[in-house]
Amino acid sequence: MDRDAAKQAAGTQAAALVKDGMCIGLGTGSTTAYALTALGQRIEDEALDVRGVPTSFAAERRARSLNIPLTTLDTDPHLDLAFDGADEVDPDGRLIKGRGAAHTREKVVATQAERFAVLVDPTKLVDRIGSERVLPVEVLPMAVTPVLQALDDWGAAPTLRMGDAKDGPVVTDQGFWVIDAAFPDAIPDPAALNDALNARPGVLDHGLFLDQATDVFVGHPDGSVDHRAV
Ligand code: A5P
Repeated sequence: MDRDAAKQAAGTQAAALVKDGMCIGLGTGSTTAYALTALGQRIEDEALDVRGVPTSFAAERRARSLNIPLTTLDTDPHLDLAFDGADEVDPDGRLIKGRGAAHTREKVVATQAERFAVLVDPTKLVDRIGSERVLPVEVLPMAVTPVLQALDDWGAAPTLRMGDAKDGPVVTDQGFWVIDAAFPDAIPDPAALNDALNARPGVLDHGLFLDQATDVFVGHPDGSVDHRAV
């Protein structure tokens, strides 16, 4: 499958949702990158007056390179629309996010948005979340061992995410670390795990997005896009 063509189809569709005057949440990742490129082009072609809140240093740098005006939640706490990618999407529009370790800021931004559009290619669609990809959990470094233990108790096989072009653990935009929790089958009870992680001291946030998505756009290699309202 030409996944890049599918991602581009979904990304272009997201940029088409943007209207003049909007405040937008700008997601992180390879699918959203296509949306940012298409949005930058629309701003240039149509002289759109829009501003975006980036969800990571990566999104911020990309938006700047595309001349997308930026703002913050201090100035603009209400967003008309946010768009972002996902690692998994289930039939109820529940997500796993955080492959790029940006899920904490992504969740803050998604929560402030009236409409949260999720952009994926078909490989992200699963019957049960946690069945194919790991669940990222952002932790305070001094709490990493207790949180690893808790995830093990909850049935996961957790590992500390290590750097690729850096020795040692991946350090997030907030200066925290990331645990990747693999589940043997799927996450048995996502709502219960969500509550447990939210209540766990030392966990900043995690990649379960159970009730944020309002729309899922699935791009296909032939350029078509399926839209599902959640
Ligand atoms: C960033 O941390 C992630 O939540 C991404 O939004 C997610 O992993 C999707 O990324 P891709 O579009 O690159 O698959």
